[in-house]
Amino acid sequence: MSISSTLIEILRNEAAPIVILTGAGISRESGLHTFRDPDGIWARYDISEVATPEAFIANPELVQSFYNDRRQILHDASVIPNAAHQALVRLEQEWPGEVLLVTQNIDDLHGRAGSKNLIHMHGELLKVRCNHCDAISPWQDDLGAGDTCPACGKTGGLRPHVVWFGEMPLEMERIYQALENCGLFISIGTSGNVYPAAGFVEVAHHQAQAETLEINLEPSDGASLFDHALYGPATKCVPEFVDQLLGRAKNR
Ligand code: APR
Repeated sequence: MSISSTLIEILRNEAAPIVILTGAGISRESGLHTFRDPDGIWARYDISEVATPEAFIANPELVQSFYNDRRQILHDASVIPNAAHQALVRLEQEWPGEVLLVTQNIDDLHGRAGSKNLIHMHGELLKVRCNHCDAISPWQDDLGAGDTCPACGKTGGLRPHVVWFGEMPLEMERIYQALENCGLFISIGTSGNVYPAAGFVEVAHHQAQAETLEINLEPSDGASLFDHALYGPATKCVPEFVDQLLGRAKNR
């Protein structure tokens, strides 16, 4: 039940605004683990021990080391944007309407691929936030209690700039505004387990009467909420669908 070419032509002629939500599945083929697959991160770690504000108070070393490991992986030469990340850049550049990319991922692969209109709703692994001055600064290396804030110079207040369970995701107002005005909502590589992101499809459907499409390896937990679906690896499905949207399917 992919989107018919007639419907795509209508969306293109209307220059329909598109909102895309991505999750860990889009980065899987770049070598990063997802969270809830059998080999996923939450099969090896307990969320309550590494990804909550309470965990950071109780055991900051463990939390920092969890994120330090994940930050290091981003520096691995083999971890680079894949064909799905790149296809979304093409879509942003060539679609006649606005394209907003909202990612739950804290990796930097969308940015490295070249996406510009991009919101990291769960934060960014390559940034830190200072509890003393609230400044957000770029950060490439391991982070620890003795590190100094590049903005205020104080020590001991830095945390990874990521949204933990129990904290409010970032830029929600801008995201909801885009969802309420979109013509097409696409969800890619997310299991549909974590709110508020898991509820975006219903906002797009009910408030904007948008067409909704899920692209995932397999039907997600929220699959029944979508009008259309494409199942398979992101590096195959996303470029193919972007080409179809851009009217290029026959040229490639
Ligand atoms: N192509 C497309 N989809 C894939 C691929 C692939 N190559 N590999 C896996 N997937 C799908 C899985 O089938 C699964 O539905 O990606 C989804 C990943 O789901 P999760 O592991 O739950 O990741 P995500 O949805 O991004 O998690 C949401 O949970 O722990 C938090 O903050 C974390 O942002 C994260 C949030």
